This record gives sequence, structure tokens and C-alpha cells, in this order.
Amino acid sequence: MATDITFHSGSVSLTEREDILKQKGVTIWLTGLSASGKSTIACALEQHLLHMRKFSYRLDGDNIRFGLNRDLGFDEKSRNENIRRIGEVSRLFADAACITITAFISPYRADRAIAREIHEKAGLAFVEVFVDAPLNVVERRDPKGLYKKARAGEIKEFTGITAPYEPPEIPDIHIKTDECNVEEAVVMIVEYLNQQGYL
Ligand code: PPS
Repeated sequence: MATDITFHSGSVSLTEREDILKQKGVTIWLTGLSASGKSTIACALEQHLLHMRKFSYRLDGDNIRFGLNRDLGFDEKSRNENIRRIGEVSRLFADAACITITAFISPYRADRAIAREIHEKAGLAFVEVFVDAPLNVVERRDPKGLYKKARAGEIKEFTGITAPYEPPEIPDIHIKTDECNVEEAVVMIVEYLNQQGYL
């Protein structure tokens, strides 16, 4: 761990940056089982916000694991580190006044609480969205064939099968993807962002 380091504040405050860019920094944190619909909603939401001329960017579990987090697996410690890093990265994006959308399983409540804390300490909004679909539904969807492999014992520590998923107790937004389509999910999130004054 580095010791002799000093934090340098810039000459532009968050409020000034947000005023200049006419945009508020916020992280929209999607959590849910594999195949629950996180990535689909994240893509549609990003597109919707960009068409509203809002600077928005998506960080997605699979994609980030090709680069920044290529050294991490799926054991509990690796998932903790995955989410810690994404908590920090999304905080940086939000600090740049970006509407940041993250799509990670993020199965542990404590890790999501840390990500929230990182944002709130920096004066940034954090919106937890539970992308909820029952296990039997996501297993039926199984777009990548991962549940089948996990059931066959070909993937170890698979979320929902052989690794835990701790659902949010009080999410800011609860989307049941077996009861609504992607457009309705986007509307729910955009309405919430409007109500909170984030758009
Ligand atoms: S986590 O739990 O937040 O660290 O996971 P995340 O970074 O979001 O990565 C999840 C994607 O990795 C693929 N995958 C697995 N998921 C869960 N458990 C195991 N063991 C696993 N192995 C590979 C899978 O494609 C996940 O993507 P999504 O989009 O969630 O289906």
C-alpha cells in the first residue's frame, strides 16, 4: 500500500462542473442474477439517455472482465474486488458528471453497500436497481448456456446455483423483468431519475 501520497483537488468543483455541463453525475447500479436482463436494460437506458443528449456511459460485467478486471475470477474474494474496483471507477465517471450505468451481478449486499458509500462520501448519487427475475425464469432463458453448464458441474461457483445472490432489501427501483419489457424498464428508471432531479 502506498503511504507518502497526497490528494490533489482540481480547480473545478463538482457543482461547477455539473452547472457548466448542465448534467448531474449519478451512478445507476443494476444488480441481479445472470440473464435477469441487466445488460439489455443498461444498453437500452444508455441509448435513451444519449438520445436525450445526456452524457451517459455503461460499464458491463462481462466487458470489464476482458480488460480492467481480467485478473479476477468468480470466487468470493475476486467478486469483492471486482465490485470494489467498479465502485471506484463508476464514482470517477459520476464525478465527471456522467450518468453512469453499471451492470454487474454484484451478488453481495456488503459490496453494493461499499459502492454506495464510495459515491455518497464524494457527494454523488447512487441508485440501486434490482433487476429481478426468479431463478427458474433465468434458467429457462439461459442465453449463454451457462446455467446448463453450471448444473452439469462444468462451471464452479455459479451465481444462483453454487454461489449466493443476496437480493437488495430496499432497492431504489425494483424491476421484475418477467412482468415488464425493456422499454417499460427504461421508463421506470428515467421517471425515477426525473423525480429525483437527476435529469
Ligand atoms: S460479479 O458477481 O458481479 O463479480 O459478476 P460480473 O462481473 O457481473 O460477471 C458476470 C458475468 O460473467 C459470466 N460468468 C459468471 N457469472 C456468474 N457466476 C459465474 N461463475 C460466472 N462465470 C462466468 C456471465 O456471463 C455473467 O454475465 P451476465 O450478464 O450476468 O449473464
